[in-house]
Amino acid sequence: MEFETIQVEQRDGVGIVTLNRPKAMNALNLQLTSELGQAIDALEADAGVRCILLTGGEQVFAAGADIKEMKEHDFASLYGLDFPYVKRDCWRAIDEARKPVIAAVAGFALGGGCEMAMACDFIIAADTAKFGQPEIGIGTMPGAGGTQRLTKAVGKAKAMEMCLTGRMMDAEEAERSGLVSRIVPAETLLEAAFKTARKIASNSAPAVAMIKQSVNMAVSAHLADGLRHERHAFQSTFAFEDCAEGMNAFAEKRKPDFKHR
Ligand code: CAA
Repeated sequence: MEFETIQVEQRDGVGIVTLNRPKAMNALNLQLTSELGQAIDALEADAGVRCILLTGGEQVFAAGADIKEMKEHDFASLYGLDFPYVKRDCWRAIDEARKPVIAAVAGFALGGGCEMAMACDFIIAADTAKFGQPEIGIGTMPGAGGTQRLTKAVGKAKAMEMCLTGRMMDAEEAERSGLVSRIVPAETLLEAAFKTARKIASNSAPAVAMIKQSVNMAVSAHLADGLRHERHAFQSTFAFEDCAEGMNAFAEKRKPDFKHR
């Protein structure tokens, strides 16, 4: 597939998608969100891909929805399009992906960019990363999950302050607050994130899918429902050949040879 606003490649079971509008700080225009949706759907459908890595490269993740494009719309025209800046295309594709999607963030992840990183399963941040929901500065508000996912990730006080003032969080604060899984030096971000994705891709794919679903239950369900879901999912893994292989390999002191990866 040929794209103009993103680049897509595949290596060792990992689908790597790089946002590619450097002059606009990877601002999310409708072409980009549409191409990203198509790319993620294609990687999701590709049996050779077992983990997806989403990045903006070494300088910037994304500075939010494309304000210059968005300002040409009014309520009626966006309503007619079903609010594509925050719904449909890439947002649906990331939400529905059963394969893990990792965000590798360097530089600004603002507005829709921060929301896109948070929609992924976890974020690895460069030491240059800056996260924020600055929509209040242009008289609007987060619309693609910012008020919800940021609050769940960092708690009410920080989320409320950031959304109401537009204050950004640097990588250190983001790690301390639980927004990112870890920080790496900017120049090693892409390699570190790729190694993590490749490690996930080497694991048993059905077990990976079940773990992803179960961890997501923890943030979307009440504890009792989440615990019940996890118990059933755990029991189900005993139906996988890979589960028997993994346990036998451990007992026999050898590396597991998973069939489903
Ligand atoms: N939309 C469109 N263009 C953008 C953009 C955006 N969100 N962010 C940056 N750009 C463009 C700038 O217009 C500029 O283009 P020109 O060279 O043609 O003028 C170029 O990228 C570089 O930007 P700056 O010159 O502003 O660079 P800077 O280093 O001085 O500042 C910045 C960087 C702090 C990210 C600043 O550009 C900025 O504040 N951007 C807007 C951030 C924002 O408000 N994001 C939220 C958007 S709304 C949203 O996302 C809604 C939602 O929930 C989906």
